[in-house]
Amino acid sequence: MNFELKTLDLKAAATQASDALIVLVKADFKPATDVLSRLIADARKSGDLDATPAKLLSVWRAQGVTSARVVLVSIGEGHARLVRQAVSAAVTSLKSAAPKKITLCLPDGSQHRLQAAAQAVADASYVYTATKPSAKAALLSRVVLALPTAAQTKAAKDDFAHACAHVAGVALAKEWGNRPANHATPSMLAKVAQGLAKHPRVRCEVLGPKEIEKLGMGSFAAVARGSQEPMRFIVLHYSGAPKAEAPTVLVGKGITFDTGGISLKPGAGMDEMKFDMCGAASVLGTFEALSKLQPAINVVGLIPTCENMPDGTALKPGDVITSMSGQTIEVLNTDAEGRLILADGLSLGAEMKPDAMIDIATLTGACLAALGKKMAGVVGNNSAVVDQLKQSSGRTDELLWELPLFRDYRAMLDSNVADMKNIGGPLAGVTTSSLFLNEFVGNTPWAHLDIAGPMDSEGDSGWLNRGATAFGTRLLIDFCANFKKPAARLNK
Ligand code: BES
Ligand code: MN
Ligand code: ZN
Repeated sequence: MNFELKTLDLKAAATQASDALIVLVKADFKPATDVLSRLIADARKSGDLDATPAKLLSVWRAQGVTSARVVLVSIGEGHARLVRQAVSAAVTSLKSAAPKKITLCLPDGSQHRLQAAAQAVADASYVYTATKPSAKAALLSRVVLALPTAAQTKAAKDDFAHACAHVAGVALAKEWGNRPANHATPSMLAKVAQGLAKHPRVRCEVLGPKEIEKLGMGSFAAVARGSQEPMRFIVLHYSGAPKAEAPTVLVGKGITFDTGGISLKPGAGMDEMKFDMCGAASVLGTFEALSKLQPAINVVGLIPTCENMPDGTALKPGDVITSMSGQTIEVLNTDAEGRLILADGLSLGAEMKPDAMIDIATLTGACLAALGKKMAGVVGNNSAVVDQLKQSSGRTDELLWELPLFRDYRAMLDSNVADMKNIGGPLAGVTTSSLFLNEFVGNTPWAHLDIAGPMDSEGDSGWLNRGATAFGTRLLIDFCANFKKPAARLNK
């Protein structure tokens, strides 16, 4: 999808040739004398354009307007969230018209509105085609984002570049999130990462079984043992700052399919566990965006990726394994595998002495139960890092809620035969999973994002509205682009 930023007030927009013209109308809209302004004012007056956000009025062949279709859509006070909903509704309403070119008129150059509008057009028109030849690919290929004055267009240049980078990162993460597990194996994810290394300032190394064993990643390797698909450990580097500058490390859970292993999951809904690599996908998407934005920061992406399968060779409940850190783990449930692969990823990340380390993972059903499908959990050992993530959340509208790293509950992980168990029992599942991860980060400023809830959506917007959301991609891009080194290593 090609985005273009252009100066068009409503008068000029009326003579733009596109298949559809979408006009975002704020609650305090002041009409001028042009055709579109009068149309909006009349529609308001007659009660046909409700001022409630996302309410829309479609007009076909409006007099004096070149584009065949006009969609007027209310955005209330114009908050990013409302813009997202409004644009999504407008683009969805155009599905049967299958427009190739859309012009979208924004009321001003606000950064949040611009980003929300661009992302909503891309999300609402997304069609998954990779393994469905009969699916009609979206025809929409050109999107003009129109601002009313030349000064606003000039001032919005950077924000526009960010919006486009977000869209590209999200597209990559969504695409790989949606692919079925047999079309998104660990080796295939590694190829995607190697593809990213074609971009300037991006490098990629892929470790196979031999190298992983050699590094002593016994916890990660134990999970991969039951699968025929060879595991991969992906290392991505984005170098935007001098080599001597400490990096920020992103670790993504890349379980390409989670059967639960010997602690097998129930059959119903198990197919959803193809999304268990969505943390990895968001790290890949972040690198796509970094390569476009070229911020002055060093970022390392670490992705342990494998399948969690039951087999004669698989890890068994009760087995004790040795992690890269040397700490031993009693595996009481092979379905708590995400933390096992992250453990070794976090150990490797901590060795790089980063300014901050963030992991992102579809880790627990407990987080889904606590926060539902529209919010991720965040837990960390450093308030400056958690606060920066919350600020990114505010700017990107990817919602986060902080849960506690409550040290008293560490006792729930105590084991008679190992340094820790991999499960803490039925209570406080997000805290115990985080306390487990915390054992591997040392004094690294660290935060953990649990995206088990928002990894996919059940469908409330868009042309194809079920599937991977790429949640966390925009959050991590924004976090990296605005990162400030925390003053203290540990303070939580
Ligand atoms: N990938 C799952 C978590 C998950 C569940 C993600 C539902 C998305 C939707 C994870 O590997 C898992 O199975 N976690 C277990 C941990 C438990 C055994 C301590 C869980 O949450 O049930
Ligand atoms: Mn599991
Ligand atoms: Zn899992």
